[in-house]
Amino acid sequence: MRVLSGIQPSGAMHIGNYLGAIRQWVAAQGPDAYYCVVDLHALTLEIEPAALRRQSDDLLAILIACGLDPTRTTLFVQSDVPYHAQLSWLLECVASYGELTRMTQFKEKSGRQQGYRVGLLTYPVLMAADILLYQSQQVPVGDDQRQHLELTRDIAERFNARYGEVFTIPEGVQPPVAARVMDLQEPERKMSKSVASPLGCLFLLDEPTTIERKIKRAVTDTDGEMRYDPAAKPGLANLLEIFAALTETTPTRVAEGYSRYGDLKSDLAEVVVEALRPIGARYEELRADLGELHRLREVGAEKAVEVAARTYGAAAAAMGLTPRP
Ligand code: TYM
Repeated sequence: MRVLSGIQPSGAMHIGNYLGAIRQWVAAQGPDAYYCVVDLHALTLEIEPAALRRQSDDLLAILIACGLDPTRTTLFVQSDVPYHAQLSWLLECVASYGELTRMTQFKEKSGRQQGYRVGLLTYPVLMAADILLYQSQQVPVGDDQRQHLELTRDIAERFNARYGEVFTIPEGVQPPVAARVMDLQEPERKMSKSVASPLGCLFLLDEPTTIERKIKRAVTDTDGEMRYDPAAKPGLANLLEIFAALTETTPTRVAEGYSRYGDLKSDLAEVVVEALRPIGARYEELRADLGELHRLREVGAEKAVEVAARTYGAAAAAMGLTPRP
């Protein structure tokens, strides 16, 4: 099964990324899985060049610390493979302006700023290029990427119908629980790197005391009734989902074990701290050896280029371009 997914180096990784996506990446890793740090995507919003460089290294290290093994699977940085930007242009000439302006994420992000970058609009086309270059069958992502996946399928189908069968039609896959982890302070909003409230986001590298404080302060509700009900009790449901995901059970079953929110929160803090402890330790080791990290990055780029070059060549030729041998 060919698998591809990506994550932006736009900020520190949080538990939403981890539970919604990265754990699925680790489970699906192998010779046919491709995972990328999508640095080109991070340019769609303001980011300091030095921060982008540093955060790309940070992210590579934390992905390996989460359990990805770059000797068993392909882990690479998007901008190391020039075909992503190249295929993106070809697909911009297949996608329509209307379908891009309808994207929820575009509407949200463009609404927050004046003079937003064109890249914010064309972003999902670059994402389609990431996916289609590797002929991916499955794309493990959190719930917030579903719409972009649908668009990718539409673009691929249109391309194939117009120019001949070049692309595999991919499918998005979500985890059974915690596909959309919510902000701990505003549980009606998803947890996010870019618009995190200081106490609302649990970062993978947070200190144990910080994790405890954030979970203790998490917004719940006032009726004190312990049950899993995302619509009526979104804050509590979010905590139950995080707990369930980390202990391989269901939110309802977690709720059955508690009567008081306080007890649930203390145990959840412990579960989170214990789950993240080995990741933090391994991260420190990996991040200390930048030479080795960059060597691994190069190994990934070489493997990715091989596959991407083939698909790009086929797509370009199908459209009437003549790629040089
Ligand atoms: P990004 O960098 O925002 O997030 C990386 C992954 O984490 C998931 N995620 C969440 N899951 C559950 N709860 C949350 N609160 C939460 N926040 C984020 C995302 O769904 C994603 O799976 N456009 C993508 C990056 C991308 C990509 C791709 C993904 C670029 N090219 C190709 C897949 C395939 C993004 O911004 O993810």
